Amino acid sequence: MTKSVIIRAVGAGLPERRVSNDELSKTLDTSDEWIRSHTGIGWRHLAADGETTSDLAVRAARQALERAGVTPADIDLIVLATTSPDYFGCPPTACIVQHKLGATQAAAFDLVAACSGFIYGLTVAKSMLLAGTARRALVIGAEVLSRVTDWTDRNTCVLFGDGAGAAVVDLSDTPDQGILNTRMGTDGSGWEYIVIRNGGAAHPYTRGSLAQRKLPVIEMNGKKVFVFAVRTLPEVVRGLVAEAGLTLDDLKWIVPHQANARIIQAAADQMKIPESRFYMNLEQRANTSSASIPLALCDLDAAGGLKRGDLIAIVGFGSGLTYGGALIRW
Ligand code: UT7
Repeated sequence: MTKSVIIRAVGAGLPERRVSNDELSKTLDTSDEWIRSHTGIGWRHLAADGETTSDLAVRAARQALERAGVTPADIDLIVLATTSPDYFGCPPTACIVQHKLGATQAAAFDLVAACSGFIYGLTVAKSMLLAGTARRALVIGAEVLSRVTDWTDRNTCVLFGDGAGAAVVDLSDTPDQGILNTRMGTDGSGWEYIVIRNGGAAHPYTRGSLAQRKLPVIEMNGKKVFVFAVRTLPEVVRGLVAEAGLTLDDLKWIVPHQANARIIQAAADQMKIPESRFYMNLEQRANTSSASIPLALCDLDAAGGLKRGDLIAIVGFGSGLTYGGALIRW
């Protein structure tokens, strides 16, 4: 029998602390008016001292597992997409998550594809499940971006938030349900447009790095990323529906990476689709990179917006430059 790969349940892990634009403007030369009008962001969750990416990932994973009615022991693959791991390079944050969850049967690894990370993770999990190299997976996007953000740089720090979203990904006997198709793409010529320049092999730490303010923080060419996003978002969604023999009208929702409402508005204009069919939660969550799409799915689900059988497209873009999407029959 033809198997499909479905998202059985999603879960969210958000820090308790919510910070408004007004609160940021107390210590930064910015304003609620600027941030809202240029991005659509109103609030972001920020991790408490000592709260890590693995903590948020575990919270999201537990919620997804509970909703799916499966135990950590039922999981044999954990793919954790993150750009802000607990530890730089080793160990993989996914291994810490595996330990905290007690998912002792699971192979666990990190995947770095920035804001497209959840899409890439879903694609890897789907391929492994269909190939028979895994049976049931947790795909998690988790970030504590606030620790790799320069809080004196108003061009970047107002954009990001912390959080995690997780999905239990499972095989099913219903061929027309689940992840119908996926797309992944890369334009490495734009690798410098969003970069954490310091602390890696290219610019390793030396004594005095901190004194010279060579911090491992996100630097971004916002305009270049904006143009890239407005071009790729429609391309990916159009490609997905065409490949599946469907049309844009068949989509109940497009759930894009939550970077900027203006990117989404421009894409909606280009695609001649009402903006109301693009789900947005960035007013509340800001840009949580690889957590943004699964968090959006959680919020949409919690609002009663997802019914079994609905056709949705998820689409991401970000550092790398990476991009990708998936067409899902919920
Ligand atoms: O996850 C994917 C990653 N990133 C993205 O998708 C980001 C894509 N790009 C963007 O979302 C937008 O380019 C930004 C929101 C980052 C910037 O918006 P913009 O309309 O392109 O603003 P800008 O960079 O052209 O800046 C306009 C002005 C500048 O002042 P001057 O030089 O005109 O005097 C900035 O200094 O706004 C200033 N500015 C701010 N003012 C108040 C920049 N950030 C702020 C701020 N508050 N937070």
